[in-house]
Amino acid sequence: MAEQEMKNRVIFITGGNSGIGLETALRFAEEGAHIAIFSRREKQNMIARNQIIPYGVECLTFSGNVTREGEVKLAIQKTVDKLGRLDYAFNNAGLEQFPTPIFQQSEKEFQTIMDVNLKGVWLCMKHELPYIVQSGGGVIVNNASVTGIVATDMVAAFVAAKHGVVGLSKAAALEYIAANVRVNAICPAGVETPMLDRLLVKNPDARKEIDAYHPIGRCATAREIAEAVYWLCSPKSSFITGHALVIDGGASIR
Ligand SMILES: NC(=O)c1ccc[n+]([C@@H]2O[C@H](COP(=O)([O-])OP(=O)(O)OC[C@H]3O[C@@H](n4cnc5c(N)ncnc54)[C@H](OP(=O)(O)O)[C@@H]3O)[C@@H](O)[C@H]2O)c1
Repeated sequence: MAEQEMKNRVIFITGGNSGIGLETALRFAEEGAHIAIFSRREKQNMIARNQIIPYGVECLTFSGNVTREGEVKLAIQKTVDKLGRLDYAFNNAGLEQFPTPIFQQSEKEFQTIMDVNLKGVWLCMKHELPYIVQSGGGVIVNNASVTGIVATDMVAAFVAAKHGVVGLSKAAALEYIAANVRVNAICPAGVETPMLDRLLVKNPDARKEIDAYHPIGRCATAREIAEAVYWLCSPKSSFITGHALVIDGGASIR
């Protein structure tokens, strides 16, 4: 049997109890990495943990909110205390915006989208980076969206937050290149996850439209995104940093 590529490495994943985050946790667990997941719903965290531990790895769960610095800081600290190191982080937790024209969007909604999708990524990196440096280097992947590169209409706050995630990733990449830390963003278009399901429940007629947005004719699976995150963390992408990797079935090339 081939040696597991990530054996005894440690990854911290926000939003690790669902969708892209959970699939990424499973991908890393397959390769022997120990996992720490951080999301708000404790019960969902336990359900995810039960899927991860059969791979024979450790799985810590933290119930917390990426917008609260104290909770983020403590979870990362405890991860290193219990698992001994931090090599990778996937800052993935995010909140969708239901399509609305700008003039109807409330200040509260704008603030929430910014806090979860942008400030949350910054807070996580702030507390992950010192530990990754302490481990001798590693990789951070931030989950933006294809809307971090191009706009779609009616979700202005989401587009702004995701453009911000791409900017934060580039800034951190430059700042930490000498410390052997690579930082990249991923930019998926539609992905089959509970987030997409929630958007479709509100507007079932959008299914055809969403598939047609992608020249490839469908949305991605969460596994297709997890493979990209895994590759960005692996030594196979050792010369890639500060990059925003578009994974969109051709959506942004029209
Ligand atoms: N699905 C798509 O089409 C798509 C496309 C492009 C980009 N993305 C991005 O991919 C990321 C993951 O989304 P997904 O599609 O996998 O959706 P998902 O299945 O709904 O997962 C979202 C995850 O984020 C966690 N989360 C949400 N708010 C949080 C908060 N304030 N603090 C901590 N955790 C929080 C959720 O767990 P709790 O509810 O338990 O906190 C959940 O684990 C998001 O950043 C999203 O913007 C998704």
